Amino acid sequence: MKIYKKKIIMIKPDDFHVHLRDGKILKKIANYTGKYYNKVIVMPNLKNPINTIKKALKYKKKIVNSSKKNKFIPLMTFYITENSNIKELEIGFLKKIFFSAKLYFKNSTNLSQYGISNLSKINKILEKMEELKIPLMIHGEIYSKNIDIFSREIFFIKNVLPKIRKNFPNLKIVLEHISTKNSAKYVLNNPPNIAATVTPHHLLYNRNDIFSNGINPHLYCLPILNKRNHQKYLIKTVTSGNKYFFLGSDSAPHLISKKENFCGSPGIFNAPTSLIIYLKIFEKMKKLKNFESFCSINGSKFYNLPLNKEKIIFKKKNWIVKNNIKINKNKKISIFLGKQTLSWKITKKK
Ligand code: NCD
Ligand code: ZN
Repeated sequence: MKIYKKKIIMIKPDDFHVHLRDGKILKKIANYTGKYYNKVIVMPNLKNPINTIKKALKYKKKIVNSSKKNKFIPLMTFYITENSNIKELEIGFLKKIFFSAKLYFKNSTNLSQYGISNLSKINKILEKMEELKIPLMIHGEIYSKNIDIFSREIFFIKNVLPKIRKNFPNLKIVLEHISTKNSAKYVLNNPPNIAATVTPHHLLYNRNDIFSNGINPHLYCLPILNKRNHQKYLIKTVTSGNKYFFLGSDSAPHLISKKENFCGSPGIFNAPTSLIIYLKIFEKMKKLKNFESFCSINGSKFYNLPLNKEKIIFKKKNWIVKNNIKINKNKKISIFLGKQTLSWKITKKK
């Protein structure tokens, strides 16, 4: 990595957690991800969840066709349910169609209705994953009417994760989009089989920002932004360069009509701005020297993937973020930090 006053050159980053959706939305957004990222783990929570080889191959093809301008490597994930077909995952993994499997707890987030409610029902699949070294990606929140929304992740870390780890100590686990100090500490205290991704929005904002000058539905995501002390702890940990933390933007587009709604959907579309936001955070903390590890090295090392050969160049230059992306005549997706001025820009020129 080379850091100059107004220029940074480093290995092109990877995004280890992205929602690309399907249909028109996929076609309109995929190139944004390819502009900034090379290896990309694609979330399987479509309306028809990705849980067979056939579905994964079809979806992957659509992704590749939608990102011809800015190519990237889509890594497909298997959606775990209580009656998963283990053979599909096993064969899919051995044939390199599935890279990992994703665990959602029932009703914990968008399209998690096929997720699990009883851990013992997935013992067999976790056993197989541990044996074959298939990474398990977890949305670590337990949904129940009796658990406060700001404590769902903490409940998972305290009461559920230790059980999974006790039964499957060699299973490779990534806690996705962590939002609390509790998750970060758990990862720090339990090497080497557990890591975490952190989003730009959980680093940039805390729960007060959702409610500043009114309610901002575009800052609603899951896990919900938490208290400022959690945000501060995440910033400190991520910028420290610790190798168990890496980039996963959780870019999750929803139409504006679904966000600004009597019952708005969780998810923030940040693909056009995520990388620059991370950069801004490392710069502010005076930790630019650790930026490349977080974006381009730690994740690949944890997943045993080769580092990217491509480089990326940032130049200090102001630019104004587009406000939204048009899907068709009256459907739009709002961009995270739309209309704001960012001070670094990706360029192709040296
Ligand atoms: C994601 C989505 O919209 O699919 N939403 C979100 O708030 N992060 C699902 C998820 O990753 O939880
Ligand atoms: Zn997600």
